[in-house]
Amino acid sequence: MLIKKPSDIKSSEITPKEIYLHRRKFLLGVTGWTATVALGLMASRSVSAAGNGDSRAKLEGMRKSPLSTDEPLNSYKQITTYNNFYELGTEKDSPARNAKYLVTRPWTVAVEGEVKRPKVYDIDAFMKLSPPEERIYRLRCVEAWSMVIPWVGFPLSALIKQAEPTSNAKYVEFTTLYDPKRMPGQRRAVLDWPYVEGLRMDEAMHPLTILAVGLYGEILPAQNGAPLRLVVPWKYGFKSIKSIVRIRFVAKQPLTAWVKSASHEYGFYSNVNPEVDHPRWSQARERRIGELFKRKTLMFNGYADQVANLYQGMDLKINF
Ligand code: MTE
Repeated sequence: MLIKKPSDIKSSEITPKEIYLHRRKFLLGVTGWTATVALGLMASRSVSAAGNGDSRAKLEGMRKSPLSTDEPLNSYKQITTYNNFYELGTEKDSPARNAKYLVTRPWTVAVEGEVKRPKVYDIDAFMKLSPPEERIYRLRCVEAWSMVIPWVGFPLSALIKQAEPTSNAKYVEFTTLYDPKRMPGQRRAVLDWPYVEGLRMDEAMHPLTILAVGLYGEILPAQNGAPLRLVVPWKYGFKSIKSIVRIRFVAKQPLTAWVKSASHEYGFYSNVNPEVDHPRWSQARERRIGELFKRKTLMFNGYADQVANLYQGMDLKINF
């Protein structure tokens, strides 16, 4: 990103591992216990909490995904106070501080472009599109830090199947809300707003690609991209666009916000690749937030078995 090198998170912000593992056990217990509660309840609860940066409304009725990693989780506090979300400020702690401005109701998501069934969804209807799952994924930021996050979401492919793309649809373009009142960071020209991201159709259809509506069994906090964000675990974190209002199916590769801003530094693909360095820093290693020592970055963020075939025959140094 345009920002400085990764800075050290303050020790006061780090929840001890025993506490977060305990919290996780508790949450999983609660989840199992309430597994029969309908998704409708989840949506209505989220409405009442929307727009409040301190909301901690629980999501219920989700199942665990076999696609999850079993690595130790980062704490709720780490995940929600060390963020990149330039619409809410460029410091790591500013999205949490400015979360109160991001009111997420009413909210609509337009599904449009090269599809047989375009539709403008109310967010609560959108959340009922597919049963939610807990997906524990590694997130590897281009700034060389990483976290393990228990997302709640559903496969993007579920939406794509409903929309019925035409044969012209080769890519999917995602757009974040543009509203400087709710996103005060947009008053500064840090990027050419709104934030735009894109995926090739096969990447969008991949079972690992999800639309997230929550984390740690609760609705997404504003700073993590409420009410709806993309999560693509084998790509650098910036591909996982937050607070989406439009999903458009297109014939041409979308011009993404970071490519527009600095195409020599950020490519369209942005697959996690320890062998292709960012011009200003190495991508060979990363620091897991909460840990002291760096670890090796894995090809495709450790998801190579599942996704390497998508890029067969492509030179990943050129298509970075
Ligand atoms: N989406 C929008 N709209 N704006 C942003 O600034 N930052 C990206 C991505 N999605 C960003 C965004 C970057 S650089 C990262 S690393 C991840 O969000 C961080 O997600 P997290 O804060 O939930 O960990």
